[in-house]
Amino acid sequence: MSLQPVPAHHALRGISLLRGSRAYLNQLPAQHTGSRSVRRASSGIRRSAPPHRKTQAAKPLPFKPAPPKAASPPPPSSPATPGPESSNDNRSGTGTGSSGGEAPRKFSVAELVRTRWIALFGAGAMALCLGSFTASFVYLNLSPAPKYETGHEPTVPTGRPGIQSPLEFDLHLDKSEHRYGITKLRRQLGERATGHVLEVAVGTGRNLEFYDWAAVTAAHLSTGERNRGLLEKSGWGARRLEDVREMLSFTGLDISETMLDIGLRRVRQVVPHGVDQIPKKASFAQQAGQGGGHVSLLDGKLRIIQGDAQDGLPAGPGPAGRYDTVVQTFGLCSVRDPARLLANMARVVVPETGRILLLEHGRSWWELVNGLLDRSAQGHFDRFGCWWNRDIEDIVERAQAAVPGLEVVEIRRPGWSTLGTHLWIELRVREVGGQEPKEDGRKPAAEDGKGWASWLNLGSSALTPKPQGEAKK
Ligand SMILES: C[S@@+](CC[C@H](N)C(=O)[O-])C[C@H]1O[C@@H](n2cnc3c(N)ncnc32)[C@H](O)[C@@H]1O
Repeated sequence: MSLQPVPAHHALRGISLLRGSRAYLNQLPAQHTGSRSVRRASSGIRRSAPPHRKTQAAKPLPFKPAPPKAASPPPPSSPATPGPESSNDNRSGTGTGSSGGEAPRKFSVAELVRTRWIALFGAGAMALCLGSFTASFVYLNLSPAPKYETGHEPTVPTGRPGIQSPLEFDLHLDKSEHRYGITKLRRQLGERATGHVLEVAVGTGRNLEFYDWAAVTAAHLSTGERNRGLLEKSGWGARRLEDVREMLSFTGLDISETMLDIGLRRVRQVVPHGVDQIPKKASFAQQAGQGGGHVSLLDGKLRIIQGDAQDGLPAGPGPAGRYDTVVQTFGLCSVRDPARLLANMARVVVPETGRILLLEHGRSWWELVNGLLDRSAQGHFDRFGCWWNRDIEDIVERAQAAVPGLEVVEIRRPGWSTLGTHLWIELRVREVGGQEPKEDGRKPAAEDGKGWASWLNLGSSALTPKPQGEAKK
């Protein structure tokens, strides 16, 4: 059987028939059509009342189409309070009913807002973004903010918050860090800190709660508790117990005594055992006592030290006085000479296997953001004591070029909410011929005799745990 083309007059007649049947259905009362939805689908315009007709038997469809005007005149009240059907009709964009001869329908503002709110909202949001972007662009380009070389800023960083007290500083950070994902990064960093750990510019101790204190406080645990902890970390035997990496000791250093006051109170809160002697409202000076400069707890496995990290770093309790992990968060923005600080860190970390882990903030990828940082840098410095518009990547690259063996393992800008201003940096020190540290127990910070560690005599027996046999003597 072959398909024959449909003649044009047949097609037109088909369309007229459909129109006619639709008009006919509109005239029928609901009980005759059998369903309200049939009427809605066929007309789109609500009628105020069904026509007064008695129940009739269903008529055959009329052969000739009914004239369009007879279909259903729109009720007079419909423009002010349109039903859902009429608003559907209006989406055609003409604003007229189904018949072509009617005057265009007018929308009230309320109706427009109700029916098109998503589109209006989207357009408003886009206009706002575009407007603020253009305004900041023009503002930043008309009067660019002054930029300074690192270390040559108008005010030398002291690292301490200027306007706020350390307590206010700490409370303020609680809220904002959680919002911007910094707390999560601190946790990740804490989990990576193993072996003998040094935290430079420890401040109010915001990372302390994320370290694993089990090995440091092991003397205060029962054998059962300790073994259970170790087994958990080994995946209940999935890995060998010797492969479990824990934090063996912790040394925190900061220049500011008032920051360390809060830091000590935090030690009391987060270290689970063996720090009960720290009073609730501890002051660092009081705890450090006459000798000053450092607080030693848990048989020297936990030390809090006051000093300038640019002058040298304290020797660690590990082999050759080095640390397996050197941590620093938001410190390169806070010191006068960040390159020198990085060189000092490189000197005290165990070559090859040791890691320097940094979480920093500074210039972004985007110049627009950098313009804003530059403009608000002085205000931020006054409040928080750091220059947040420094080019951290550049500082690290320069240090890498200047310090033999220093190497970037990873550098990335995590999270989108900080607009590329935050950096996660992992460094290590490769052994360079003739310059690798000697395993003879000499303390790197004391080697040149100039560092403040030697001045404080940090390599002395007071801070270096003695070997087991020696301690018993
Ligand atoms: C922005 S705070 C960061 C504190 C902490 N690391 C944190 O993540 O919350 C900077 C810290 O660096 C310390 N600091 C500044 N200069 C220092 C220096 N030369 N030596 C040691 N610490 C220093 C300040 O006292 C301050 O506690």
